Amino acid sequence: MNFELSDEQLQIKMSVREFAESEIAPYALEWDESQHFPDELRPKLAELGLFGVIFPEQYGGAGMGYVEYSTIIEELGRVCGAVGLSVAAHNSLCSNHIYMFGTEEQKQKYLVPLTQGESWGAWGLTESMAGSDASGTRTTAVGTDGGWKVNGSKNFITHAISCHTLVAVAVTDKDKGNKGISAFIFDKSMPGFRPDKKENKVGMRASETASVVFEDCFVPTENLLGNAGEGFLQAMQVLDGGRISIASLSVGIAQGAYEAAVKYAKEREQFGRPIADFQAIQFKLADMATQIECARLLTLQAAALKDAGKKVTKQSAMAKMYASEVAVRVSEESVQIHGGYGYTKDYPAEKYWRDSKLCTIGEGTSEIQRIVIAKQILR
Ligand code: CAA
Repeated sequence: MNFELSDEQLQIKMSVREFAESEIAPYALEWDESQHFPDELRPKLAELGLFGVIFPEQYGGAGMGYVEYSTIIEELGRVCGAVGLSVAAHNSLCSNHIYMFGTEEQKQKYLVPLTQGESWGAWGLTESMAGSDASGTRTTAVGTDGGWKVNGSKNFITHAISCHTLVAVAVTDKDKGNKGISAFIFDKSMPGFRPDKKENKVGMRASETASVVFEDCFVPTENLLGNAGEGFLQAMQVLDGGRISIASLSVGIAQGAYEAAVKYAKEREQFGRPIADFQAIQFKLADMATQIECARLLTLQAAALKDAGKKVTKQSAMAKMYASEVAVRVSEESVQIHGGYGYTKDYPAEKYWRDSKLCTIGEGTSEIQRIVIAKQILR
């Protein structure tokens, strides 16, 4: 068993770290405050291959595996959760759904521009009445001449406004429950496709989250992904991979919060010495470091199993649940170590804390991850 990244993986990690520290970190708070994902960052991310990390070169991707992907998302999360979240949603939700279930034609038409950074991806499963209960989808797609007419809406969608391509599910046969849900590729230019309310979020503010409304939106037959009725199952399989990215993002946020706490503890003096000299602080740092290592190992294990072609439903849910809860605990401790300064925007601790919370909710809450894990144990 090898617990170390290869030289090549380490090189990828370090080049993303260098990029993140120079091109993202200095502006992260500004983008957070203005709730703005910078347009100028996209070509730079594309140049690094970050829009097609896990896809083969024949589709314009970087041809990497989930282990590399995990280290990349971790490095982005270490400096800015929102940028990490946007890159993750683009890769492992929208693009991966098309890669896993699309036809060759669909891949050429939609996946290639996504991996090249020419188009921006979004993925729509959640609705106002179908959050944790994903099979409670109410958006409908009714067969019509040459395609489908879609009506309904999707909520909490990353890039709902700025996306060019959206993969979303709709009910095509309401009598068949989750076997009556289908997945479609939407093009933003389709008449009847309308982005709606942008959420004013607590954290991850530079990563846009909004609703989408479909009003008699016509989707041609060739935009159906796989067969009618397979959309729910496809979405569950897409989430198996997506949850590895949220686990990786959580590890990155925790790592960034922890490093900020170590730095501050060494610099800040009270009672005539650095607060790092006090055992109360040392114990906190020791617990934080240990939990981050555990979360990282669990996440990389899920990533390595995914690369080996194994089913990762249980491992990705475990990694996502554990790592996201670690991110919340570690970033809260980081705020605590920073004391009063931690509660201000003069230090990065508060942003890690705000960003971390999304990770226990998005792509399935911690409670849903426990359901997924228990189902796998007991089936
Ligand atoms: N792989 C393969 N098959 C799977 C599967 C998986 N990961 N998960 C479920 N299935 C299969 C089951 O085996 C079952 O098959 P059969 O009917 O043949 O037995 C079928 O799918 C139905 O599964 P369940 O009975 O477990 O379904 P359920 O209705 O009880 O729901 C759930 C299960 C785990 C709670 C699921 O609804 C779920 O994951 N909910 C959370 C959804 C979520 O994460 N939402 C966030 C999306 S993010 C977003 O939309 C916006 C964005 O921009 C990020």
